Amino acid sequence: MFVKILNKILYIFFSLLIFFTLTKNLSSEEIHLHFPEELLMVEFDKHILPRFKFKTQIEIKAVNFFENSDASIGVKTNGISIFSDLNDIIYKIELITTEEAKLKKFDKFIDWLKSPSGISAIEGFQFNGVPIFKAMLLEKKEKKEFVFEGDSKNGLLISQKHCKRCHVVDDNAFAGIDSSPSFHAMRSFEDWEERFRAFWTVSPHLNVISITEVYDAGSNLSPVVIAPIELTLDEVDDILSYVSKIVPKDLGKPINFW
Ligand code: HEC
Repeated sequence: MFVKILNKILYIFFSLLIFFTLTKNLSSEEIHLHFPEELLMVEFDKHILPRFKFKTQIEIKAVNFFENSDASIGVKTNGISIFSDLNDIIYKIELITTEEAKLKKFDKFIDWLKSPSGISAIEGFQFNGVPIFKAMLLEKKEKKEFVFEGDSKNGLLISQKHCKRCHVVDDNAFAGIDSSPSFHAMRSFEDWEERFRAFWTVSPHLNVISITEVYDAGSNLSPVVIAPIELTLDEVDDILSYVSKIVPKDLGKPINFW
């Protein structure tokens, strides 16, 4: 009798343990996308999500509650526009989760919605034989567009005054010296911004350029060979603003010529 009860208790205990570990895993991996009532009613979720899964193996679960969902589709002020309905009302997807892994999957979902196969899935959806959604054209993805606050006109002037000795800084391709890459070429580097933000910390500028607030060129290093250049951090911002407007020179394959 006692052994029987013990067995039962053990059985219940282990079942619970298995149940909890399973559901825990499930809930952390499953991604929940909230759909508004009207889309669930026409079963738009059942049309779109399996097609996405078929393409990418990523499973997104449609839910009808906003709370605790990882993202939400609906008529919203914020989010990325994905399609409009017959009344030109725009549906957007809003990301809620902050989990990196889930965000990546939603990124894929959004990319797919904007791809030919996603667009044909959206526009192929019919209700009572009538297509009711129109995919939105690709918006510029919300890249972290950095707004340069500096004065780009002044940036050009400063560049012409101080940098042109060594670099090609504008349309005058004959300025500069051979060992210095042109601004246009450097603008095409992915990390151009970091390079320009900190150019005065790398040689050969180190001994030549001083930033008023920060560093005194040549003060404790090798002798200054050319007239020192003095800039302020504001002027560095102006240069950044100017360079941000330069059309990058298409260098084709990445090259490193200095
Ligand atoms: C004395 C000549 C000289 C002057 C003046 C000069 N540069 Fe340079 N600059 C160079 C050379 C040479 C390099 C390549 C350095 C190397 O080979 O590593 C360079 C590299 C750079 C780079 C790339 C740095 C990196 O991290 O790779 C930037 C950005 C830059 N310069 C900006 C400027 C700006 C802005 C000015 C004007 C305020 C300026 N330079 C003035 C000679 C100069």
